[in-house]
Amino acid sequence: MNFDIPITIALSKGRIFKQTLPLLSYAGIEPLDDPDSSRKLILDTNHSQVKLLIIRATDVPTYVQWGAADLGVAGKDVLIEHGGEGLYEPLDLGIARCRMMVAGAAGAKLSGDRLRIATKYVNAARNHFASKGQQVEIIKLYGSMELAPLVGLSDLIVDLVESGNTLKANGLVPLEHIQHISSRLVVNKASWKMKHDTVIKLLGAIRQAVTANSKFE
Ligand code: PRP
Repeated sequence: MNFDIPITIALSKGRIFKQTLPLLSYAGIEPLDDPDSSRKLILDTNHSQVKLLIIRATDVPTYVQWGAADLGVAGKDVLIEHGGEGLYEPLDLGIARCRMMVAGAAGAKLSGDRLRIATKYVNAARNHFASKGQQVEIIKLYGSMELAPLVGLSDLIVDLVESGNTLKANGLVPLEHIQHISSRLVVNKASWKMKHDTVIKLLGAIRQAVTANSKFE
């Protein structure tokens, strides 16, 4: 692909970056630095017009919403909490897959009075319990949610589960499935209009890569 206008793509370090690289490569985009060894937050690529921003996963939708990045890759969990304002979400990349679950001690009650739920996924948790007509008190945490029921901070947690090892290591079990999570390509609404041809071509190339990936699963 040729890029005759500037395109900025927001990514987070770690799993999302690693799993997005082959998809970008399909579109002919190769970063010139490795975020694991470089402290740079703006990575150049083999195309002078294409830059990658390396930011925290929860900040990706914000950069894209405000047009500081044209595109981004963000987990559905992060997008639910952000709310999706100012963004289009045209493509499920099928990467960084896991499940959002309600978890707790084996046999913990999923209904009752004044259930306390510890989570960093406040919107998702509220929506889930509201859809069941269950009133809950949500306690916002920023990580290590598994600790909360162990020390009596909450009855249950809402967290992401991949292998289940973290729950198991802390004597907890998954109790209720909320939704499947994977990373999505998001596009700033103004970039979608103003940079339409380039965005559509890039989207097409990444979509082909996703299709090719899914054939090997
Ligand atoms: C996530 C999630 C769980 C764990 C699940 O935490 O919040 O704690 O991974 O993975 P598993 O089922 O394979 O054990 P992360 O490492 O992202 O850190 P966090 O506690 O800051 O959310």
